[in-house]
Amino acid sequence: MSDTGGEKFDIQEFWGALYGSLYRESDGGLTRDVLFQALNDLEDMFRLRGHMATAEMPLAALRGKLVLEIGSGAGGHSALFAKYGAVMTSVDITNPRVRATQAKFDLMGDHAAGCRAMEADAENLPFADASFDIVYSNGVLHHTRDTERAIAEVHRVLKPKGRAIVMLYCKDSWHYWINMFLCIGILMGKAFRDPNWLGKASEWGGKDAQTVANPYTRCYTAAEMRRLFGAFGRVRMRKGEFYFYLIPKIGRLYRRYQIRKYGTHPGGVLVYGEPWPIQSPLELWLGRFMGFSWFIEAEKPAED
Ligand SMILES: C[S@@+](CC[C@H](N)C(=O)[O-])C[C@H]1O[C@@H](n2cnc3c(N)ncnc32)[C@H](O)[C@@H]1O
Repeated sequence: MSDTGGEKFDIQEFWGALYGSLYRESDGGLTRDVLFQALNDLEDMFRLRGHMATAEMPLAALRGKLVLEIGSGAGGHSALFAKYGAVMTSVDITNPRVRATQAKFDLMGDHAAGCRAMEADAENLPFADASFDIVYSNGVLHHTRDTERAIAEVHRVLKPKGRAIVMLYCKDSWHYWINMFLCIGILMGKAFRDPNWLGKASEWGGKDAQTVANPYTRCYTAAEMRRLFGAFGRVRMRKGEFYFYLIPKIGRLYRRYQIRKYGTHPGGVLVYGEPWPIQSPLELWLGRFMGFSWFIEAEKPAED
Protein backbone atom coordinates (compact mmCIF):
# COMPACT_ATOMS: atom_id res chain seq x y z
CA MET A 1 0.00 0.00 0.00
CA SER A 2 1.28 3.44 -0.75
CA ASP A 3 1.55 6.16 1.83
CA THR A 4 -0.92 9.01 1.77
CA GLY A 5 -0.44 12.22 3.72
CA GLY A 6 -4.22 12.56 4.23
CA GLU A 7 -4.49 9.30 6.16
CA LYS A 8 -1.55 10.23 8.38
CA PHE A 9 -3.15 13.61 8.99
CA ASP A 10 -6.39 11.91 10.11
CA ILE A 11 -4.43 9.83 12.63
CA GLN A 12 -2.57 12.90 13.93
CA GLU A 13 -5.77 14.92 14.17
CA PHE A 14 -7.66 12.24 16.10
CA TRP A 15 -4.91 11.49 18.63
CA GLY A 16 -4.08 15.18 18.94
CA ALA A 17 -7.73 15.94 19.86
CA LEU A 18 -8.16 12.96 22.22
CA TYR A 19 -4.93 13.40 24.12
CA GLY A 20 -5.19 17.18 24.16
CA SER A 21 -8.45 16.73 26.04
CA LEU A 22 -7.12 14.00 28.36
CA TYR A 23 -3.78 15.48 29.41
CA ARG A 24 -4.46 19.21 29.44
CA GLU A 25 -4.33 19.36 33.25
CA SER A 26 -1.92 16.54 34.13
CA ASP A 27 0.78 17.62 31.62
CA GLY A 28 0.59 21.25 32.75
CA GLY A 29 1.42 20.84 36.44
CA LEU A 30 4.21 18.28 36.15
CA THR A 31 7.37 18.80 38.22
CA ARG A 32 10.30 16.43 38.73
CA ASP A 33 9.04 15.28 42.16
CA VAL A 34 5.47 14.84 40.93
CA LEU A 35 6.75 12.85 37.94
CA PHE A 36 8.84 10.44 40.04
CA GLN A 37 5.92 9.85 42.42
CA ALA A 38 3.64 9.32 39.39
CA LEU A 39 6.10 6.77 37.96
CA ASN A 40 6.05 4.80 41.24
CA ASP A 41 2.25 4.85 41.09
CA LEU A 42 2.27 3.82 37.43
CA GLU A 43 4.52 0.83 38.08
CA ASP A 44 2.33 -0.24 41.01
CA MET A 45 -0.81 0.02 38.84
CA PHE A 46 0.78 -2.02 36.04
CA ARG A 47 1.79 -4.75 38.54
CA LEU A 48 -1.73 -4.86 39.97
CA ARG A 49 -3.19 -5.31 36.47
CA GLY A 50 -0.57 -7.77 35.23
CA HIS A 51 0.15 -5.35 32.38
CA MET A 52 2.97 -6.20 29.94
CA ALA A 53 4.82 -2.97 30.93
CA THR A 54 5.89 -4.83 34.07
CA ALA A 55 5.10 -8.50 33.28
CA GLU A 56 6.84 -8.82 29.90
CA MET A 57 9.28 -5.91 30.31
CA PRO A 58 12.35 -6.92 32.32
CA LEU A 59 12.48 -3.66 34.35
CA ALA A 60 15.36 -4.78 36.57
CA ALA A 61 17.43 -5.76 33.52
CA LEU A 62 16.80 -2.65 31.40
CA ARG A 63 19.94 -0.70 32.38
CA GLY A 64 21.90 0.20 29.24
CA LYS A 65 19.45 -1.57 26.90
CA LEU A 66 18.50 0.26 23.69
CA VAL A 67 14.71 0.37 23.75
CA LEU A 68 12.38 1.82 21.11
CA GLU A 69 8.81 2.70 22.09
CA ILE A 70 6.44 3.15 19.14
CA GLY A 71 3.47 5.42 19.86
CA SER A 72 4.63 6.73 23.23
CA GLY A 73 1.45 8.80 23.77
CA ALA A 74 1.75 10.64 27.08
CA GLY A 75 5.26 9.24 27.56
CA GLY A 76 4.57 7.49 30.89
CA HIS A 77 5.70 4.03 29.76
CA SER A 78 8.90 5.43 28.22
CA ALA A 79 9.67 7.46 31.36
CA LEU A 80 9.19 4.34 33.51
CA PHE A 81 11.67 2.36 31.38
CA ALA A 82 14.11 5.31 31.44
CA LYS A 83 13.90 5.35 35.24
CA TYR A 84 15.18 1.76 35.17
CA GLY A 85 18.13 2.77 32.99
CA ALA A 86 16.84 1.96 29.49
CA VAL A 87 18.21 4.23 26.77
CA MET A 88 14.89 5.19 25.25
CA THR A 89 14.06 6.27 21.73
CA SER A 90 10.36 7.12 21.77
CA VAL A 91 8.45 7.87 18.60
CA ASP A 92 4.91 9.05 17.98
CA ILE A 93 3.22 10.33 14.84
CA THR A 94 1.43 13.09 16.82
CA ASN A 95 3.74 15.99 17.61
CA PRO A 96 2.22 17.16 20.94
CA ARG A 97 2.70 13.58 22.21
CA VAL A 98 6.38 13.72 21.22
CA ARG A 99 6.77 16.98 23.12
CA ALA A 100 4.99 15.54 26.19
CA THR A 101 7.34 12.52 26.17
CA GLN A 102 10.46 14.68 25.70
CA ALA A 103 9.29 16.97 28.54
CA LYS A 104 9.24 13.94 30.86
CA PHE A 105 12.78 12.95 29.84
CA ASP A 106 13.90 16.55 30.41
CA LEU A 107 12.39 16.60 33.91
CA MET A 108 14.16 13.31 34.72
CA GLY A 109 17.59 14.82 33.94
CA ASP A 110 20.39 12.25 34.46
CA HIS A 111 17.80 9.49 35.01
CA ALA A 112 16.96 9.78 31.32
CA ALA A 113 20.47 10.34 29.96
CA GLY A 114 20.59 9.53 26.23
CA CYS A 115 16.78 9.28 25.94
CA ARG A 116 15.03 11.13 23.13
CA ALA A 117 11.53 11.53 21.73
CA MET A 118 10.89 12.18 18.06
CA GLU A 119 8.09 12.34 15.52
CA ALA A 120 8.05 9.27 13.29
CA ASP A 121 5.63 6.91 11.58
CA ALA A 122 5.55 3.26 12.71
CA GLU A 123 5.31 2.22 9.05
CA ASN A 124 8.56 3.99 8.06
CA LEU A 125 10.88 4.00 11.04
CA PRO A 126 13.90 6.29 10.54
CA PHE A 127 16.39 3.79 12.04
CA ALA A 128 18.95 1.41 10.60
CA ASP A 129 18.38 -2.36 10.63
CA ALA A 130 19.23 -4.12 13.92
CA SER A 131 19.32 -0.94 16.06
CA PHE A 132 17.43 -1.96 19.22
CA ASP A 133 17.45 -4.63 21.94
CA ILE A 134 13.72 -4.23 22.64
CA VAL A 135 10.84 -2.67 20.71
CA TYR A 136 7.84 -1.89 22.93
CA SER A 137 4.45 -0.72 21.71
CA ASN A 138 1.24 -0.56 23.72
CA GLY A 139 -2.05 -0.20 21.87
CA VAL A 140 -0.70 1.54 18.76
CA LEU A 141 -0.09 -0.71 15.77
CA HIS A 142 -3.79 -1.65 15.36
CA HIS A 143 -4.47 2.08 14.83
CA THR A 144 -2.15 2.56 11.87
CA ARG A 145 -3.14 2.10 8.23
CA ASP A 146 -0.85 -0.86 7.46
CA THR A 147 -0.29 -2.94 10.60
CA GLU A 148 1.64 -5.67 8.72
CA ARG A 149 4.11 -3.14 7.45
CA ALA A 150 4.54 -1.66 10.95
CA ILE A 151 5.30 -5.12 12.38
CA ALA A 152 7.80 -5.75 9.57
CA GLU A 153 9.46 -2.50 10.67
CA VAL A 154 9.58 -3.70 14.29
CA HIS A 155 11.31 -6.88 13.07
CA ARG A 156 13.76 -4.94 10.88
CA VAL A 157 14.97 -2.52 13.57
CA LEU A 158 15.42 -5.24 16.21
CA LYS A 159 18.84 -6.78 16.74
CA PRO A 160 19.07 -10.57 16.31
CA LYS A 161 17.63 -12.13 19.51
CA GLY A 162 15.99 -8.75 20.25
CA ARG A 163 12.48 -8.82 21.66
CA ALA A 164 9.24 -7.17 20.53
CA ILE A 165 6.78 -6.50 23.34
CA VAL A 166 3.51 -5.42 21.80
CA MET A 167 -0.12 -5.02 22.78
CA LEU A 168 -2.76 -5.35 20.07
CA TYR A 169 -6.52 -5.62 20.42
CA CYS A 170 -7.99 -9.10 20.70
CA LYS A 171 -10.94 -10.15 18.57
CA ASP A 172 -11.54 -13.34 20.60
CA SER A 173 -12.89 -11.21 23.43
CA TRP A 174 -16.08 -10.16 25.19
CA HIS A 175 -15.45 -6.51 24.39
CA TYR A 176 -15.21 -7.12 20.63
CA TRP A 177 -18.10 -9.58 20.19
CA ILE A 178 -20.60 -8.43 22.83
CA ASN A 179 -19.96 -4.76 23.60
CA MET A 180 -18.89 -3.62 20.14
CA PHE A 181 -20.06 -6.08 17.46
CA LEU A 182 -23.42 -7.08 18.99
CA CYS A 183 -24.45 -3.94 20.89
CA ILE A 184 -22.97 -1.14 18.76
CA GLY A 185 -22.52 -2.83 15.38
CA ILE A 186 -25.76 -4.88 15.14
CA LEU A 187 -28.31 -3.64 17.71
CA MET A 188 -27.49 0.04 17.18
CA GLY A 189 -27.08 -0.65 13.46
CA LYS A 190 -23.67 1.06 13.05
CA ALA A 191 -22.05 -1.86 11.22
CA PHE A 192 -24.65 -1.59 8.43
CA ARG A 193 -24.11 2.13 7.88
CA ASP A 194 -20.40 2.79 8.26
CA PRO A 195 -17.39 0.70 7.13
CA ASN A 196 -15.31 2.36 9.88
CA TRP A 197 -17.88 1.71 12.65
CA LEU A 198 -15.24 -0.05 14.75
CA GLY A 199 -12.82 2.89 14.60
CA LYS A 200 -15.61 5.20 15.68
CA ALA A 201 -16.94 2.86 18.38
CA SER A 202 -13.57 2.57 20.09
CA GLU A 203 -11.18 5.05 21.65
CA TRP A 204 -12.97 7.99 23.11
CA GLY A 205 -12.41 8.62 26.78
CA GLY A 206 -11.80 12.31 26.15
CA LYS A 207 -13.15 15.00 28.46
CA ASP A 208 -14.47 17.09 25.54
CA ALA A 209 -17.24 16.09 23.11
CA GLN A 210 -15.76 13.97 20.30
CA THR A 211 -15.45 15.95 17.07
CA VAL A 212 -12.84 13.86 15.21
CA ALA A 213 -13.36 10.19 14.33
CA ASN A 214 -10.70 7.55 15.00
CA PRO A 215 -9.61 6.48 11.49
CA TYR A 216 -8.52 2.91 12.28
CA THR A 217 -9.04 0.18 14.86
CA ARG A 218 -8.34 -3.47 14.12
CA CYS A 219 -8.81 -6.51 16.36
CA TYR A 220 -7.05 -9.85 15.83
CA THR A 221 -7.80 -13.52 16.40
CA ALA A 222 -5.07 -15.81 17.74
CA ALA A 223 -4.47 -17.22 14.23
CA GLU A 224 -4.17 -13.72 12.76
CA MET A 225 -1.68 -12.78 15.49
CA ARG A 226 0.47 -15.80 14.66
CA ARG A 227 0.47 -14.79 10.99
CA LEU A 228 1.35 -11.16 11.81
CA PHE A 229 4.35 -12.26 13.89
CA GLY A 230 5.29 -15.12 11.53
CA ALA A 231 8.79 -13.71 10.86
CA PHE A 232 9.71 -13.95 14.53
CA GLY A 233 11.07 -17.11 16.15
CA ARG A 234 9.59 -17.66 19.59
CA VAL A 235 6.21 -15.93 20.05
CA ARG A 236 4.28 -15.95 23.33
CA MET A 237 0.79 -14.46 23.59
CA ARG A 238 -1.59 -14.03 26.48
CA LYS A 239 -4.86 -12.20 26.97
CA GLY A 240 -5.63 -9.54 29.56
CA GLU A 241 -7.85 -6.54 30.38
CA PHE A 242 -11.55 -7.21 30.95
CA TYR A 243 -13.82 -4.44 32.27
CA PHE A 244 -17.54 -4.69 33.06
CA TYR A 245 -17.80 -0.90 32.77
CA LEU A 246 -17.28 -1.11 29.00
CA ILE A 247 -20.67 -2.79 28.53
CA PRO A 248 -22.76 -0.15 26.75
CA LYS A 249 -25.34 1.70 28.92
CA ILE A 250 -25.30 -0.51 32.08
CA GLY A 251 -21.50 -0.25 32.26
CA ARG A 252 -21.78 3.31 33.54
CA LEU A 253 -23.77 2.14 36.56
CA TYR A 254 -21.29 -0.65 37.23
CA ARG A 255 -18.40 1.82 37.08
CA ARG A 256 -19.91 3.85 39.94
CA TYR A 257 -20.30 0.66 42.03
CA GLN A 258 -16.78 -0.48 41.10
CA ILE A 259 -15.21 2.80 42.24
CA ARG A 260 -17.16 2.69 45.53
CA LYS A 261 -16.17 -0.92 46.19
CA TYR A 262 -12.58 -1.13 44.90
CA GLY A 263 -11.51 2.53 44.70
CA THR A 264 -9.24 4.18 42.14
CA HIS A 265 -5.49 3.96 41.61
CA PRO A 266 -3.37 7.13 41.13
CA GLY A 267 -1.23 5.24 38.57
CA GLY A 268 -3.79 6.13 35.90
CA VAL A 269 -3.02 9.87 35.99
CA LEU A 270 0.16 9.72 33.96
CA VAL A 271 -1.20 7.56 31.15
CA TYR A 272 -4.96 8.24 31.13
CA GLY A 273 -5.07 11.73 32.64
CA GLU A 274 -7.11 10.48 35.62
CA PRO A 275 -7.00 7.82 38.37
CA TRP A 276 -7.76 4.33 37.16
CA PRO A 277 -10.83 2.46 38.52
CA ILE A 278 -9.44 -0.69 40.15
CA GLN A 279 -10.74 -3.93 38.62
CA SER A 280 -12.44 -6.60 40.70
CA PRO A 281 -10.60 -9.93 41.11
CA LEU A 282 -13.31 -11.47 38.87
CA GLU A 283 -12.48 -9.05 36.04
CA LEU A 284 -8.77 -9.75 36.39
CA TRP A 285 -9.48 -13.46 36.11
CA LEU A 286 -11.91 -13.10 33.18
CA GLY A 287 -9.28 -11.04 31.35
CA ARG A 288 -7.18 -14.19 30.94
CA PHE A 289 -9.93 -15.82 28.84
CA MET A 290 -11.89 -13.01 27.22
CA GLY A 291 -9.77 -9.86 27.67
CA PHE A 292 -9.48 -7.25 24.93
CA SER A 293 -5.67 -7.11 24.90
CA TRP A 294 -3.20 -9.51 23.37
CA PHE A 295 0.11 -9.13 25.20
CA ILE A 296 2.75 -10.45 22.82
CA GLU A 297 6.39 -11.20 23.41
CA ALA A 298 8.22 -12.17 20.20
CA GLU A 299 11.93 -12.84 19.75
CA LYS A 300 13.78 -12.18 16.51
CA PRO A 301 15.82 -15.25 15.55
CA ALA A 302 19.64 -15.08 15.96
CA GLU A 303 20.08 -15.70 12.22
CA ASP A 304 17.57 -14.25 9.78
C1 LIG B 1 -3.89 4.40 22.16
S1 LIG B 1 -2.56 5.54 22.04
C2 LIG B 1 -1.34 4.65 22.99
C3 LIG B 1 -0.35 5.54 23.67
C4 LIG B 1 0.60 4.84 24.63
N1 LIG B 1 1.31 3.78 23.96
C5 LIG B 1 -0.14 4.31 25.83
O1 LIG B 1 -0.26 3.11 25.99
O2 LIG B 1 -0.60 5.12 26.65
C6 LIG B 1 -1.98 5.47 20.39
C7 LIG B 1 -0.77 6.37 20.11
O3 LIG B 1 -0.18 5.89 18.89
C8 LIG B 1 0.16 6.99 18.06
N2 LIG B 1 0.17 6.50 16.68
C9 LIG B 1 -0.89 6.11 15.93
N3 LIG B 1 -0.48 5.72 14.71
C10 LIG B 1 0.88 5.85 14.70
C11 LIG B 1 1.89 5.60 13.71
N4 LIG B 1 1.58 5.15 12.50
N5 LIG B 1 3.17 5.83 14.04
C12 LIG B 1 3.51 6.30 15.28
N6 LIG B 1 2.60 6.56 16.24
C13 LIG B 1 1.29 6.33 15.96
C14 LIG B 1 -0.89 8.05 18.39
O4 LIG B 1 -0.45 9.34 18.06
C15 LIG B 1 -1.09 7.84 19.87
O5 LIG B 1 -0.23 8.64 20.64
